[in-house]
Amino acid sequence: MDKFVVYQSSLKGEVKVSGSKNATLPIMAATLLTDEECKIIGVPDLADVRTMIKILDILGKEVIFEGGVLIIKRKPKKWGYVAPYRLVRTMRASFCVLGPLLARRKKAKVSFPGGCIIGVRPVDLHIKGLRELGAQLNIERGYCVGEAKKLRGAHIFLGGAFGSSVLATDNTLMAATLAEGETTIEYAACEPEVVDLALFLKKMGADIEGEGTHLIRVRGVKSLGGAEFKVIPDRIEAGTFIAVALATGSSLTISGINPLHLTAVIETAKKIGANITVSDSKIHIDVFKKLSPTNITTLPYPGFPTDLQAQFMVALCLAEGISLVNEKIYPDRFMHVSELNRMGARIQRSGPYAIIEGNRNLVGAEVMASDLRASAALVIAGLVAKGKTEILRIYHLDRGYEKLDEKLKILGAKIKREKS
Ligand code: EPZ
Repeated sequence: MDKFVVYQSSLKGEVKVSGSKNATLPIMAATLLTDEECKIIGVPDLADVRTMIKILDILGKEVIFEGGVLIIKRKPKKWGYVAPYRLVRTMRASFCVLGPLLARRKKAKVSFPGGCIIGVRPVDLHIKGLRELGAQLNIERGYCVGEAKKLRGAHIFLGGAFGSSVLATDNTLMAATLAEGETTIEYAACEPEVVDLALFLKKMGADIEGEGTHLIRVRGVKSLGGAEFKVIPDRIEAGTFIAVALATGSSLTISGINPLHLTAVIETAKKIGANITVSDSKIHIDVFKKLSPTNITTLPYPGFPTDLQAQFMVALCLAEGISLVNEKIYPDRFMHVSELNRMGARIQRSGPYAIIEGNRNLVGAEVMASDLRASAALVIAGLVAKGKTEILRIYHLDRGYEKLDEKLKILGAKIKREKS
């Protein structure tokens, strides 16, 4: 297993973000809705993308992935309809093949994704949405086994205890495109990645309106065709580099982004002490003064994203005072706290809250990566800490960040990948 060795660094320069992992994965699943060839452009080379390629291969798709472009077409041989546990358990997003399989093949057997390091990850809303479209779904030995002789449009409320659900919206939306009649999805997720999926489906011939709002309307069509599509930039990667600039006090330009996807993040960074100028596809960030303590509450889009909570927490450890993080999406998403405390942070966790004492001097240590975003937080901490930081099990990072070490090195970071 690889590890990162990181030293205190001062950074400067421009970094271009890759395509969005969380837009790419559901769009790859959506190709199951057609036999025709699909071309997806701007795809990041990530472990999660390669896992989804393996799943599509099992389900009867031939996938060519070169230079950030995926060509996905039907294999002549018989299609499968089983997404196996050994793959689904490594990547929860695999569960969003369920909707397309039911809609297109009328049957599916998809392993439940199980929990993960950021907490319990239920799929009740996925099941609710698909059942209300007429699918019969049962739980058999850890698998969701489904049949759907005919899917019929319905009015579906998809709000859960934690608000909207991104992938449950995706699963329901994909199935509804081939259901008979009209479907309305109320309390749909509004994330840009859901909008990207809807735009891809419309290019395939789906009849969708309201994407990006809490009410999506779908009129079912007989079939969908192939499409060519470029995925949106990764707003979470962009936000991670904003957190890097804040924590290291660097002047960075982050390019190839859509700043409109980062409003809450930019506002929070300004509150903490960043000077940010925005152009159409870039932001420039300068950090001149001491950082100010700030309270962060994670919310569904357009609120502050849970996927950036850990990264911003590192900057809050350096701010001049006490900050509070309220994690309203995944109340247990604090795997990074114990490791940051081992590096000299002083963070107290109480349920969904973390109280962060500021003015801390972080010191390098040997730490363990866990959740993808917690691992990014440890990299940021290593860039700030005095002495050497070794981050083990960085395969977690390789799941969701394309060449993160190389991008940081270009900015001047002292970071290298080693075999551990
Ligand atoms: C997506 O996961 C993202 N993953 C996550 O990013 C992200 O953290 C999350 O949305 C929230 O923004 C992908 O897009 C591949 P949810 P998803 O369903 O769709 C609860 C990363 O680091 N819930 O929107 O699985 C759930 O427990 C990953 O890139 C139910 O209660 O998340 C959570 O509290 C991590 N029932 C809340 O909803 C359900 O059926 C939001 O989860 C589904 C979810």
